[in-house]
Amino acid sequence: MSIIKKVQARQILDSRGNPTIEVDLRLDCGSEGRGIAPSGASTGKLEALELRDGDKNKFLGKSVYVAIDNVNNEIKNKIINNQYGEQEILDNFLIDLDGTENKGRLGANAILAVSLAFSHAMASSRNLELYEIFSNSVDYSLPVPLMNILNGGAHADNSLDFQEFMILPLGFDSFKDSLRAGVEIFHNLKEILSKFSYTTAVGDEGGFAPNIKSNEEALDIIIDAINASGYNPGKEVFLGLDVASSEFYNNNQYLLTNGKTYDSKSFCRYLEIMCKNYPILSIEDGMAEDDWQGWTLLTETLGSKVQLVGDDVFVTNPSILKKGIENKIANSILIKFNQIGTISETIETINIAKENNYNFIISHRSGETEDTTISDLSVGMSSGQIKTGSLSRSDRTAKYNRLLRIEEKLGSSLFNSNYVFDKWLK
Ligand code: PGA
Ligand code: ZN
Repeated sequence: MSIIKKVQARQILDSRGNPTIEVDLRLDCGSEGRGIAPSGASTGKLEALELRDGDKNKFLGKSVYVAIDNVNNEIKNKIINNQYGEQEILDNFLIDLDGTENKGRLGANAILAVSLAFSHAMASSRNLELYEIFSNSVDYSLPVPLMNILNGGAHADNSLDFQEFMILPLGFDSFKDSLRAGVEIFHNLKEILSKFSYTTAVGDEGGFAPNIKSNEEALDIIIDAINASGYNPGKEVFLGLDVASSEFYNNNQYLLTNGKTYDSKSFCRYLEIMCKNYPILSIEDGMAEDDWQGWTLLTETLGSKVQLVGDDVFVTNPSILKKGIENKIANSILIKFNQIGTISETIETINIAKENNYNFIISHRSGETEDTTISDLSVGMSSGQIKTGSLSRSDRTAKYNRLLRIEEKLGSSLFNSNYVFDKWLK
């Protein structure tokens, strides 16, 4: 059982047309698994290192041939014909083999692709669905989709400061109805944007990327789209933001494209007013990764009213999350497995969040592929929420489609959209 017999890495393309690493792995029982590393654009400074070749003559410096060589030679030579009874044993071996804090020697993309390929192969060898492999508990649930229907920031060529404007359809009895609401709002949004002569071209995560001038106008238009779809904003459908504020934080100031600058206190006030004026239920990276004082203030001010999600500030890192919890920073964490580099460490971080009553949201990256592991991870770990972009482009809809198939198998009773938001919906 679980003796690794084949490991093979290759270069494929992600949704932005950039190279990424894919690994195929086979066990002695014949079971095979495939892992693919996604890739971020607005990355946190303390993320595990994505190893790229930097040779300007190949893929503008973005090829990953060194990471691939690391898998096909050093990693393969060490793990082939060895037995790893559990994911954690293999992952710990890879972490030690790399020997650096940020997985920079072998590459977090190389290590993650092997780690993921192993979990797929293990699920197959045990005749399990992938979501069954991640936890000993069978306490599965289907997640609420946090759908990013308007894109700005580093994911679009427009002047919107905030990176993501999301809708959270909570007032539904099943994942598929929740998704349907999202799709209807998405298509109505397209019509409204056209009516105002805005472009309906999409950004990296499949959401529209119109040249809307202000964050408020973006929210107004989304509210219009929710109403046009026959849903009730603030009752059935709520709003979420990924401010991704590290992208416009410099010298202790938050600088918006309209020229206005804010310090932590006034930016916190700005977000607070926005929450008063709109049915916002979730704010991600409202403060910058280096602004822990700002985070403390934001959490004191808004933590009892909305979900405050740490992405760049926690980078799915167990030690940083622990420090954040001690410092009362945020009340939720975004989970991206390539920020930390192995499945086991991802699960360790999730378990810390669970033990401390922090919500956790399983998330894609802006650079994605056809891989749908995050859908299974969200069901298996019972995250209650998933963030996987908009309702267009197969790299995004593949994750929703996988969840539809899981729902068909497990039943819609596992969709209980409100429980993760209970404390803020009172
Ligand atoms: P990224 O964006 O994948 O480009 O980091 C996603 C996010 O910030 O949540
Ligand atoms: Zn984010």
